[in-house]
Amino acid sequence: MPTNILDDARSYLVDFLKGKQNVFETKHPWRKGWEFAVLHSLHVEAYVLRILGREDDRLSESEVTLLRLAAILHDIARLEKREDHARAGAEIAAEWLERNGQYGLNAEESRKVLEMIADHSKKEVCEQDFSKGVLKDADTLDEIGVMSIFMTSNWLEHQSPFFFHALRQRLIEVELPFCDQKLSILNTEGAKKILREKRDFVEDFLAQLRDELQAEREAEQSLMRLSQEVESEYSG
Ligand SMILES: [Fe+2]
Repeated sequence: MPTNILDDARSYLVDFLKGKQNVFETKHPWRKGWEFAVLHSLHVEAYVLRILGREDDRLSESEVTLLRLAAILHDIARLEKREDHARAGAEIAAEWLERNGQYGLNAEESRKVLEMIADHSKKEVCEQDFSKGVLKDADTLDEIGVMSIFMTSNWLEHQSPFFFHALRQRLIEVELPFCDQKLSILNTEGAKKILREKRDFVEDFLAQLRDELQAEREAEQSLMRLSQEVESEYSG
């Protein structure tokens, strides 16, 4: 297998996406541009290696290369279509491989890469194939942790004097259960360990925020109640 296949795939990803925009993103402005799609793909490739580093199951060097290749190309069609982007991405990857003489991959190796890409969105399906499970898990791990705290803040009213209280509340009510739901669909122990560390980080952040806000003090609680009463008086 040629060693430059991963570099070529990254260059192809950039060439293919350059200038395109995502039309359905509304909450997180940085996710609209094509650059984000490239960065996400590179993050997923890096998570593949992090997960493998925590697994006893050993893949051969060429299996790791196939997995990294699938990670780089897995979302190549996602900027244009959200639904069924996995299958569309597999078709784009198949054409790219074909134009390049399959990069020396044999039929079985090409099939494996394309199948990993085509099936990566079916996160609810428990994966029997180890490589496919690692790719799905790596995709799930991106944008959870520090990033999800910032993303949570985009759902809130930034002008509100209770912004940090609302942030704390939404992290507790939405983000931590979201982490737990993701934990329940992960396929590999390696990814579960990484996600538990991310969840612990969010818990630590929440503990620090609670201290800084003195959120459970009586004075703070009554000020919030008062503010809600004033607001409903005006709106009523
Ligand atoms: Fe993805």
